[in-house]
Amino acid sequence: MLILGIETSCDETSAAILEQKDGRIQILSNVVASSALLQSKYGGIIPEQAAREQLKSIVPVITEALTQAIQQSSYKEKKIISLDSFIAASIDAIAVTYGPGLIGSLLVGVETVKVLSLLWNKPLIPVNHLLGHFYANWIGVESRIKSQESSKDKSRLSTLATRDLPEFPCIGLLVSGGHTDLVLFKNHGQYEYLGGTRDDAAGECFDKCARLLNLPYPGGPEISKLARSGNPMAFDLPRPMIDSKDFDFSFSGLKTAVYNLMKSDKIRKSVNQNVRIINTLTHRSTDTLISSDLSDLCASIEAAIIETLVKKTVEAAKCYKVEQIIVAGGVAANQKLVANLKLEIENLKLKIRVAVPPPSLCTDNAAMIAAAAFFTEERINPDNLQANPNLSLAY
Ligand code: KG4
Ligand code: ZN
Repeated sequence: MLILGIETSCDETSAAILEQKDGRIQILSNVVASSALLQSKYGGIIPEQAAREQLKSIVPVITEALTQAIQQSSYKEKKIISLDSFIAASIDAIAVTYGPGLIGSLLVGVETVKVLSLLWNKPLIPVNHLLGHFYANWIGVESRIKSQESSKDKSRLSTLATRDLPEFPCIGLLVSGGHTDLVLFKNHGQYEYLGGTRDDAAGECFDKCARLLNLPYPGGPEISKLARSGNPMAFDLPRPMIDSKDFDFSFSGLKTAVYNLMKSDKIRKSVNQNVRIINTLTHRSTDTLISSDLSDLCASIEAAIIETLVKKTVEAAKCYKVEQIIVAGGVAANQKLVANLKLEIENLKLKIRVAVPPPSLCTDNAAMIAAAAFFTEERINPDNLQANPNLSLAY
């Protein structure tokens, strides 16, 4: 079965074709065009501009995804060469993000797939972007039993999945630019919302702190890169709600603390000077980074965000006695978050597996939307599909 996925919820325009074969979901193509570089000039996303970029990219991105999928060896063998014959013979359904996100951006994807669904006569599958993030964990993996069996076959070693298929029940931690949510998954399509952020999302906190430090957007990767040469204990930053007895989060106090720190002439001058120095470096590899107030502040911000995420996620796993955690969303690309989560589980001598997608599948992409569609029964009449910018996991 082949699904064409479309994702346009924010500043990425993406189309992907995924195939489900022998119980395994594989990517045939996953094309992502991002306007993040353009947005970075303004220190964040301008919704109208993001929508305009979506409009420019959507058709070329879908065409490229189809073209790349046809070039896959199995389709070459079948001698399917034209886009039209590939679509007619091979694509079984179209999946699309219908929310949450920026309304202008969402509309581009939603209205495009309505036309394609009618034109190509293919069923339409609506996908919640937030659930889509979790399904990146189902891409390119097989069940542990199957992968153990196949590991006996040495000739297949190079194609072996290095990650295992997540098992239910599991705790899902979604950490993206707009959301921070903890969910208990009982099965596909069956989940219980446990808690989420009461103000800023974890990614948003990274981005806003980066902006206070005059670092480019998106701030998460910038802060985590600089944090590598910094001391995470150099600045005593707050961890709001870390000891609250629920599964909610709050990150806006951390951002305010960084704002207040930057009011100090000494710190602001030192940080600004450090930023000027790194901006002059043409090749910003980790070995060119030096320890400084900037790197110490980045390490302290990262540590404060991660500590709260790790503590609440492990608490949730203990509370619901699950043996699996799945992490998803752009912030899941943060290596320190995953390392510290595993370390905490080890320190507490718990038997909990942690699944996290490869970094390219953590940030917004259409492969995760197509992957989610393999597990949803819902089919929608194009006339009834509507973008919903406020869609949530909480109801
Ligand atoms: O999931 P995503 O691509 O978009 C949303 O659905 O929001 O997440 C984007 C967020 C941004 O806030 C970005 O700063 C953050 O993910 N991010 C990171 C890292 N890579 C991306 N945060 C921390 N460390 C990273 N390595
Ligand atoms: Zn996202």
